[in-house]
Amino acid sequence: MGQPQTAIGIDVGGTGIKGAAVDTRTGETLTDRHRVPTPAGGRPDDVAREVGAMVSAIRAEARRRGIAVPDDAVPVGVTLPGVVRDGVMRTAANVDPDWIGTDAVALLSEAVGSRCLVVNDADAAGIAETAFGEVRGMPGVTMVLTFGTGIGSALVCEGVLVPNFELGHLELHGHPVIERYTSAKVIEREGISLEEWAARAARYLAHLEKVMNPDRFVIGGSISKASDQYLPFPGVTAPVVPASFRNNAGIVGAARLAYEAARCGYPASTGA
Ligand code: BGC
Repeated sequence: MGQPQTAIGIDVGGTGIKGAAVDTRTGETLTDRHRVPTPAGGRPDDVAREVGAMVSAIRAEARRRGIAVPDDAVPVGVTLPGVVRDGVMRTAANVDPDWIGTDAVALLSEAVGSRCLVVNDADAAGIAETAFGEVRGMPGVTMVLTFGTGIGSALVCEGVLVPNFELGHLELHGHPVIERYTSAKVIEREGISLEEWAARAARYLAHLEKVMNPDRFVIGGSISKASDQYLPFPGVTAPVVPASFRNNAGIVGAARLAYEAARCGYPASTGA
């Protein structure tokens, strides 16, 4: 199949930072999945330092494995858990508010030592699933929801991503911000069972279905690993499937976007 088209994807969440080198033709990871906890407080400089260290570690592993590409020629994509427009973070629900207004492309490019692409985490998951996973070739409207520290959402219409949907921030069922009641994190924060979480998630999806009528839902984020324990959701008519890449979708999507952006000379869309 020829040489892999390698890029590095780093997925920054409110709880963990995950990354790997990815063959962007197939979505396959070429190195181990690296993971470190998000530094306490999630401040921009601390996060950037961890991202820089992780990219160096992945480059070193890639070299050891004989994935021969000069360091600065490997495109790097980084997801962030907030709205990203023109490379600047606009919201920060689960990381330090200092991120708001931060030029994330400048900060992370400096930390990584080469120009990188920055994108919302759920949008990256949507891109990965559209390129290689559950949304590939799918007609109509797909809603990708990632349940982790927060709830991320990506809307894909006929294969095209509509960026920066923030459906985790709906006021719903008496909760001013629904992700604080229904993200995967509440299982630990409130000590509820997976069953109780699933009942909350089912009500949330049923509401989204009522107002947006997607053709299908794809569930990503940390909760997607256990999907056989809670799917199907009662009261939801559209098919609900786990992301093909489970919790790695953000890594794969970030790498894929970075490779494409580097090839095209970094256009301004999707935060590049
Ligand atoms: C943020 C989203 C993000 C999601 C998952 C939310 O709090 O507002 O932008 O996609 O968390 O990390």
